[in-house]
Amino acid sequence: MSIVVVGSINMDLVVRVKRHPVPGETLLGSDYETHHGGKGANQAVAAARMLGRPQTPGKGGLAAAQSAGVRMIGRVGQDEFGNQLRNALKREGINVNATIPIAAPTGVAFIAVNDQGQNTIIVSPGANHRLRPENLSPAEFEGAQVVVLQLEIPLDTVRKAAELGKQAGAKVILNAAPAQKLPDKLLESVDILVVNESEALGLTGVLPDSPEMALEVARVLSEKTPTVVITLGEQGAVWVGPEGSGHQPVLKVEVLDTTGAGDAFIGALATAICEGKALPQAVQRGCVAGALAATRVGAQSSLPWREDVNARLES
Ligand code: RIB
Repeated sequence: MSIVVVGSINMDLVVRVKRHPVPGETLLGSDYETHHGGKGANQAVAAARMLGRPQTPGKGGLAAAQSAGVRMIGRVGQDEFGNQLRNALKREGINVNATIPIAAPTGVAFIAVNDQGQNTIIVSPGANHRLRPENLSPAEFEGAQVVVLQLEIPLDTVRKAAELGKQAGAKVILNAAPAQKLPDKLLESVDILVVNESEALGLTGVLPDSPEMALEVARVLSEKTPTVVITLGEQGAVWVGPEGSGHQPVLKVEVLDTTGAGDAFIGALATAICEGKALPQAVQRGCVAGALAATRVGAQSSLPWREDVNARLES
């Protein structure tokens, strides 16, 4: 099984606030914390954890399967943050041969989380924006069954990665986050488009504020991409694809921090698709993983393991 993730790697600087500031306002928050993040890296970690916990670290067995399982293509700076982030991916069993340290600052995300666990995020892309289409080679996509992409790297790089993924015979999943207009040329190479409510609003001009409305919006988006999934936070997720359409409700959980919940969803979805599971099951696993991530603090630190998701599904 092989999942290739092409995307961003950020150090998250996180502060908790009672409420988010309005423009021009200064607020005092908690002590800041640093967490490993970046949508690309989070999704790679989420996918790796959905393969299961390594039982024999460093030697054969599941650990070896894991290192062959998820490959991360990205850029970090030649600085302390870059070092830490790349090593953290390695410890998860992710192949980082194509995660290259370069002479630019590592990407940083400035995150404020309020008392309801909702966040605002400003990303300084740094090295992530130096990953150019010409840096991608077909060899890096060889054997890929699923390619996972987001939009925190340049759009022309995302497009090239989608094309290389298609050429390699992989299913291409695009998480169109953060929201921006998507060229038709890119959508032609995408098999599964995943967006949340606000990204769906950005793409269609309609806010899907209920599962029924989200199904309508997903049908519109599926005119350009065969399968569309819209995540709806506490209302779960809807999907529309060649095998039909449906709504998956979500577990009720106590939300502490929603950072990384969307990435947990994508990682679980990608692993399930790679394992040949049908879309409704893949979406169900994504919803459970996302809900569990929202109960924990941080991005990569909050991502659940396969065993956690299975235990929830069994109960
Ligand atoms: O999806 C959450 C992620 O968005 C954070 O980890 C942050 O780095 C930004 O990329």
